[in-house]
Amino acid sequence: MVIFKKVIDIQSFISDLKARGEVISFIPTMGALHKGHIFLVENARKAGGITVASIFVNPTQFNDKEDFKHYPISVEADIDMLTEAGCDILFLPDVSEVYPNGTENMPTHNFGYLETILEGAHRPGHFKGVGQVVARLLDIVKPDRLYMGQKDYQQCMVIKDLLRQTNSTTQMVVSPTVREDDGLAMSSRNRRLNELQREVAGVIYQCLVSIVAKKGSDFAVVKKECEDILKAKGFDPEYIELADADTLQLNNSYTNGRQVALIAAKLGSIRLIDNMLIE
Ligand code: PAJ
Repeated sequence: MVIFKKVIDIQSFISDLKARGEVISFIPTMGALHKGHIFLVENARKAGGITVASIFVNPTQFNDKEDFKHYPISVEADIDMLTEAGCDILFLPDVSEVYPNGTENMPTHNFGYLETILEGAHRPGHFKGVGQVVARLLDIVKPDRLYMGQKDYQQCMVIKDLLRQTNSTTQMVVSPTVREDDGLAMSSRNRRLNELQREVAGVIYQCLVSIVAKKGSDFAVVKKECEDILKAKGFDPEYIELADADTLQLNNSYTNGRQVALIAAKLGSIRLIDNMLIE
């Protein structure tokens, strides 16, 4: 795997590859890699061409300073995992490479409704930051395909909207969520759970499974059950919602269309999110 830290170097390397007709697949990450990230790399590799991953803990998407301060970093282990997965190129920039003129004057995109609900409502400014960094990374890497995880369902929708707004030719590929044995969605933040928190963390998944299984019943009742279970296990639930899977319009009840159930809950200071499609 070739590692680049400078924009100018990765750009010239990739433009040579593109000139030779290579198809470029891109997997942006914030590092502290786990099997969920590696699954994206594997999916990209299966599609052929050149696989480019990035590791950059983007300061502009953290509305919570403590979360940024404690975000896990494990670059050496990440490099080993990416090498083993057969990733071709890693972009590992400093903040000054991504934001050479600082973050203040960077253009931001407006994602409208998507910024006002769920993660958007609970993490003000988060999606502006995500849009900002992904737009910048896409401009540097200019990939043909962009691999992202369903784990961050709303983020996928925001990036889809970014691609639409920028008339991008990059095609987005969404991969299903990779889970631990007890159903807990893999996440870099899981490393910060203590033993007791880790033991109960799978309850979010169990709640999502029950929301899916109870399709057709009164969602208000199901939601209250989930809220009570989460609280009994020591969670502080932020939202338990049903939404239209294509528009993310929030629904008060089950519908006949494709829906997605989404949960965000805190265990101590660690905020976990997960979702499940209801088809
Ligand atoms: P990060 O949380 O590191 O995630 C990088 C990518 O991995 C995202 O597309 C995310 O949805 C995917 N992913 C995370 N956990 C997963 C799991 N358990 N199964 C499948 N895919 C999973 O998301 C970000 O970084 C950042 O916001 C980023 C897009 C890199 C912009 O800074």
